Amino acid sequence: MKQTYVSDLKNHIGEEVTLKGWLYNTRSSGKLVFLQFRDGTGIVQCVVFKGNDEAVFEKAKSLGQESSLIVRGTVKTDDRSAIGVEVDVKEIEIIQNVHEYPITPKEHGTEFLMDNRHLWIRSKKQNAVLKVRHTVIKAVRDFFDNNGFILADTPIFTPAACEGTTTLFEVDYFGDEKAYLTQSGQLYNEATAAAFGKSYAFGPTFRAEKSKTRRHLTEFWMVEPEVAYASYEDMMQLGEDMILAVVQRVLKDRQEELKTLERDTTVLEAISAPFPRLHYDDAVKMLQDGHAKGELENNFEWGGDFGAPDETYLSNQFGKPVFVHHFPAAIKGFYFEVDKDDPKYALGIDLLAPEGYGEIIGGGERAASLDYLIEQLEAHNLPRESFEWYLDLRRYGSVPHSGFGMGIERCTAWMCGIEHVRETIPFPRMLYRLKP
Ligand code: 4AD
Ligand code: MG
Repeated sequence: MKQTYVSDLKNHIGEEVTLKGWLYNTRSSGKLVFLQFRDGTGIVQCVVFKGNDEAVFEKAKSLGQESSLIVRGTVKTDDRSAIGVEVDVKEIEIIQNVHEYPITPKEHGTEFLMDNRHLWIRSKKQNAVLKVRHTVIKAVRDFFDNNGFILADTPIFTPAACEGTTTLFEVDYFGDEKAYLTQSGQLYNEATAAAFGKSYAFGPTFRAEKSKTRRHLTEFWMVEPEVAYASYEDMMQLGEDMILAVVQRVLKDRQEELKTLERDTTVLEAISAPFPRLHYDDAVKMLQDGHAKGELENNFEWGGDFGAPDETYLSNQFGKPVFVHHFPAAIKGFYFEVDKDDPKYALGIDLLAPEGYGEIIGGGERAASLDYLIEQLEAHNLPRESFEWYLDLRRYGSVPHSGFGMGIERCTAWMCGIEHVRETIPFPRMLYRLKP
């Protein structure tokens, strides 16, 4: 008999179906066993009545959590069910009867759950988060695919640093040559943008972040568009359009998951264009005013990078994502274009998400001048040999161009309204976590 998925049961009311999956949870009361059956697409209550078939009833009673099983039964409407249906069980085929599944419905600590991440992803909430992640990625891909961007993925083994040398993971590349895991596909995107006009990369990126925060992973996925003949202002527009597309898609396709996560969706529904665009100096002033009013502990000094409380404070002033641009060049990467009228500012942009989620987009305009970049490589102590190919992009048809990167996990955490990015990726990698 053909397999029916839980997500499709509402289209089979009154019919006999075959479900293949696992036992999520169970309870029994005298003559009835209620199996919470899951198959990855959803959870449905399957009811086994002793009076129907005693053997099937005994089988049902013997099943432990996460046993694998095939259920045959009839689909009935049920008003109390979250999905509107339940299944009247006729037959059960046990594939594996499991006892002592490590994750029980009781409270477990996060460390224990993270150690059992390979099993934890089966649970309702984790499942919902990862489905939202899927939709964030789908929305982002559709957005770029539908707007004339060519997907041109960039290498993971790289010969040089993009985002500073302090967070590089070094890899032994056949003994004599050193390689690093990519921190960002940006430098290569600059080459593909010159080839295609508009390109994007989407892949894993790596940072040897020694900080143990709720926003940092050592391996995370980044989507990075790059556009020839575009300015940092164009990137704020592109970032705004992309974020709106993501928010709307998640709201449209993931209502059930957001409900499971008890996400307050009104804050997502309220997100609309335009996002405020704040000059760094104005952001600094806002932070200093905040300190004067006693709303911020730290008194922010011009020239620094925002800390998590600063980012939270700034985005709280608006209740929607806010762009900050014109960062001090001294705290930015070697590749940034500077403001021609005031070169102490780099034409960088960050997008700060609301509700304390902090920076989710970082990017800006790239330096177009060969001489300036050569100086910058020296000033940043970067080995010029490794960047010769990059300098070629300024030798042969250099144009103003810009791009950005968005971390998928930070965006997903924000969509889900969850505390920590570690739950937004199937198998997180962090300072103290390389398992499972
Ligand atoms: O601001 P970042 O470092 O920018 C770049 O890497 C640019 N080269 C991208 C570009 O212009 N093509 O990182 C971009 C985004 C951040 O805003 C954040 O969302 C995410 O990547 N990110 C991290 N996410 C999780 N864990 C980390 N350790 C992250 N570091 C950055
Ligand atoms: Mg950044």
